[in-house]
Amino acid sequence: MSAALPFAQDGSFKVKTLCRRYEGRVVIVTGASRGLGRVIARRVAEEGASVVITDLDGAAARRTAGLLEKETGSHFQWAEGDLSEAGVAEQVVAKAAAAFGRVDTLINNAAALIRMPLVDFTEELMQQAVRGNVWTLLRCCKAVLPQMIAQKYGRIVNIGGEAWRTGTPHHTLLGGIGKGGMVGLTATLAGETAREGITVNCVSPAAMAAAGDGDPAATPSVRDPAWNPPAVLAGLAKMAMPATFIGRAAHLTEVAAAVAFFGSPEASYVTGQHLGVSGGLVMI
Ligand SMILES: NC(=O)c1ccc[n+]([C@@H]2O[C@H](COP(=O)([O-])OP(=O)(O)OC[C@H]3O[C@@H](n4cnc5c(N)ncnc54)[C@H](O)[C@@H]3O)[C@@H](O)[C@H]2O)c1
Repeated sequence: MSAALPFAQDGSFKVKTLCRRYEGRVVIVTGASRGLGRVIARRVAEEGASVVITDLDGAAARRTAGLLEKETGSHFQWAEGDLSEAGVAEQVVAKAAAAFGRVDTLINNAAALIRMPLVDFTEELMQQAVRGNVWTLLRCCKAVLPQMIAQKYGRIVNIGGEAWRTGTPHHTLLGGIGKGGMVGLTATLAGETAREGITVNCVSPAAMAAAGDGDPAATPSVRDPAWNPPAVLAGLAKMAMPATFIGRAAHLTEVAAAVAFFGSPEASYVTGQHLGVSGGLVMI
């Protein structure tokens, strides 16, 4: 790693943004108790947003909301629940509107990171992958739209992944169905809502550095072996994967910076777009 990189290598986020694009804005970040979602929540709060963090793990969401409130000085709320279940996303939107009066930005970050050959999926796991990656996205978008349409303003940013367009093996449910479908939803929902003052865009990371979500007590994220069999992960690591031109994994703050643009008021004339924040892995 080069010392010239524009962020702290220890994840302590010593170089802060000077932007304040989210003053008076309210942002929901799904799956934000850790990892990329946590860093996105932190970034928009640093820019002035009031933030609602949601997660399956309520204790982790509460802890993260408390820490980020102290670190950024912004207001945080948290909500526990499985967003793939009917009604949960509506409760989150209602909580955000009750606490902060509006909802400006929805960041669809939560996903079920299940990676294995399609032939190895049980029926149950296949259903879970579709619920966690398709239904979660769909329900969150649908739940936030009435509020955004009433305001005549909204930003939806979907967190994708590059596997759907690089053909990375063992990503059929997560990448092919989940993130590939997400790109289609981004375009069609953008078209449907453009005249309502709403934009919908998608940001796709590829490899991201595992460490560095800024939580002082964070342990490196461990993928559930029932969802990511070690032999599959080892096989993926050995494969000749397409190289990024930049030649390193992304720091989470680098992905969050692109997300923060699409989620902000100044991204007013860009909608239905897909952006790879993936070191030049794919250049179209
Ligand atoms: N990690 C990577 O290398 C990578 C690469 C490309 C894309 N992505 C995408 O970036 C996003 C974040 O990845 P990450 O590695 O930080 O993920 P992560 O697994 O570390 O965190 C995801 C969070 O979402 C929560 N969550 C999952 N399903 C939920 C649901 N139904 N309801 C509520 N909360 C739910 C989980 O509890 C978890 O806290 C995901 O969309 C992922 O697909 C990740």
